Amino acid sequence: MARPSKLTKNNQGKKTAIIKLQLAEQEFPNQASINPLHQRRPSMAQQLLLLAAAVLAFVAGTGSCHGFHIEEATIDAIHEGFSNGSLTSTTSLVRFYLDRISRLNPLLHAVIEVNPDALRQAARADAERRSGRPCGRGLHGIPVLLKDNIATRDLLNTTAGSLALVGSVVRRDAGVVRRLRRAGAIVLGKANMEEWANFRNLEGTAGWSTRGGQGRNPYVLSADPCGSSTGSAIAAATNMAAVTLGTETDGSILCPASLNSVVGIKPTLGLTSRAGVIPISPRQDTVGPICRTISDAVKVLDAIVGYDARDAIAKESFKNTIFHQHLDTMRKHGAILIENINIANLSVTLDVLNNGEQIALPAEFKLSLDAYLSDLSYSPVHSLADIIAFNNAHPVEERLKEFGQLIFLIAENTTGIGAPERAAIQELNKLSAYGLEKLMKELKLDAIVTPNDSASSVLAIGGMPGITVPAGYGKLGVPFGICFGGLKGYEPRLIEIAHLVFALED
Ligand SMILES: *[C@@H]1O[C@H](CO)[C@@H](O)[C@H](O)[C@H]1NC(C)=O
Ligand SMILES: *[C@@H]1O[C@H](CO)[C@@H](O)[C@H](O)[C@H]1NC(C)=O
Ligand SMILES: *[C@@H]1O[C@H](CO)[C@@H](O)[C@H](O)[C@H]1NC(C)=O
Ligand SMILES: *[C@@H]1O[C@H](CO)[C@@H](O)[C@H](O)[C@H]1NC(C)=O
Ligand SMILES: *[C@@H]1O[C@H](CO)[C@@H](O)[C@H](O)[C@H]1NC(C)=O
Repeated sequence: MARPSKLTKNNQGKKTAIIKLQLAEQEFPNQASINPLHQRRPSMAQQLLLLAAAVLAFVAGTGSCHGFHIEEATIDAIHEGFSNGSLTSTTSLVRFYLDRISRLNPLLHAVIEVNPDALRQAARADAERRSGRPCGRGLHGIPVLLKDNIATRDLLNTTAGSLALVGSVVRRDAGVVRRLRRAGAIVLGKANMEEWANFRNLEGTAGWSTRGGQGRNPYVLSADPCGSSTGSAIAAATNMAAVTLGTETDGSILCPASLNSVVGIKPTLGLTSRAGVIPISPRQDTVGPICRTISDAVKVLDAIVGYDARDAIAKESFKNTIFHQHLDTMRKHGAILIENINIANLSVTLDVLNNGEQIALPAEFKLSLDAYLSDLSYSPVHSLADIIAFNNAHPVEERLKEFGQLIFLIAENTTGIGAPERAAIQELNKLSAYGLEKLMKELKLDAIVTPNDSASSVLAIGGMPGITVPAGYGKLGVPFGICFGGLKGYEPRLIEIAHLVFALED
């Protein structure tokens, strides 16, 4: 969920971009005018370009499908295929993805386990379809891959990529999995991820886990696939599943989605339940879709949002305000991009070694991980201390010499949320409240726009949502994304903006 590569990266010195760009009502931004987002201006000498987009744009309706192929098929196309008879069995759909996995996974390492029960679930979906029962279930028969930190109570293991949790048994499906199954989805398997969501050591593990091996960027095999939702992004990009789920604490959906050229939504904190997800921080963790299209991502998000008694922060009210609003978004707006936005204390905010995260996260991790472990009905390990000992006992498999486990050791030394942690959390809240939140309210912004996941820390500490969509290819063909972020609950307008960008690129 975290991208601790950032823990080592001192972001100080990055500045906000200064771009003035006003668009008349009919003059939607075209590629050229959006270009400044992707280009570094030497005179500005900054890596981070932040633009603000105010008042948004018209969104076309759902995309139509031209010609049925399972490869690249969207949820809509699959459903339409079933209703017009060009697709006749969920079993063949599941077989297609299982076949893709068996052919591509030895190279790309996107998947840790496939579900031995997937074909049986497919047969059941077919039987339901024949009996006419599935009507209205949004993801009926849709095969989904889950990041390996999202618990399922079935034949699959839930291990965050680590050997330490193999054989652990959860009491129940994660809240989001319960919702996926209720919507009719088929759990195809568990996706590879950076081990322990990249919260084991400072340098990060660059797409690697003991159980899943080295995930590879399908566009440029030698390029960073990013993480920690590495396998979910690779699998979506390469059609190893119809759709996937990832999780994010700071950049873990937005970054891999960007670098593997797919769509990722990091929802507002509390929009989706984190119950049954191997945690880092209840203050920042969130679960979201990684898919090939915005429309698929929105459908998956729609299926997983909502109240969960096991995660007090997951609120029912979000669903109504956000998603009914989303359905009403066929409005026409002019787009105004404002340059010169100046987020107060931005360099501190982005400096994860000094913004408070480095104090808050380890303590939150230890508390929430121990709580997760104590809720398992069986587990070979019962505490962070046990996992540290497990790694020490398996140094070769866990690549201990190379990656170490310094964050684990730091976290183990914490003793709950005491005075320093409370102060750090207060500092993080202040950075958010007086930073992006204040600015967006003052300037009445709909979104901020950044390349890749450059603003992920800003969104992470504020529990704010972001969506990344493919934006192009950089040096040597490595994809990059364009990310729209906003205040809590801004998903509808962010999705709207993303739709606009896609429409322009078609
Ligand atoms: C996106 O991230 C990749 C990998 O870190 C980097 O090579 C690329 O320059 C970034 N793109 C932009 C526009 O910042
Ligand atoms: C059925 O729908 C699918 C998905 O949109 C499409 O690809 C296919 O051409 C359609 N076939 C017929 C016979 O209408
Ligand atoms: C879960 O882990 C156990 C122990 O290694 C293994 O036997 C089993 O096959 C795994 N489950 C799946 C679905 O791979
Ligand atoms: C943990 O605490 C012990 C005792 O204070 C100290 O010696 C050790 O260096 C600490 N470890 C880390 C990683 O901070
Ligand atoms: C933000 O920066 C100002 C001065 O630039 C400083 O006084 C203030 O303490 C900073 N706030 C935080 C939360 O770091």
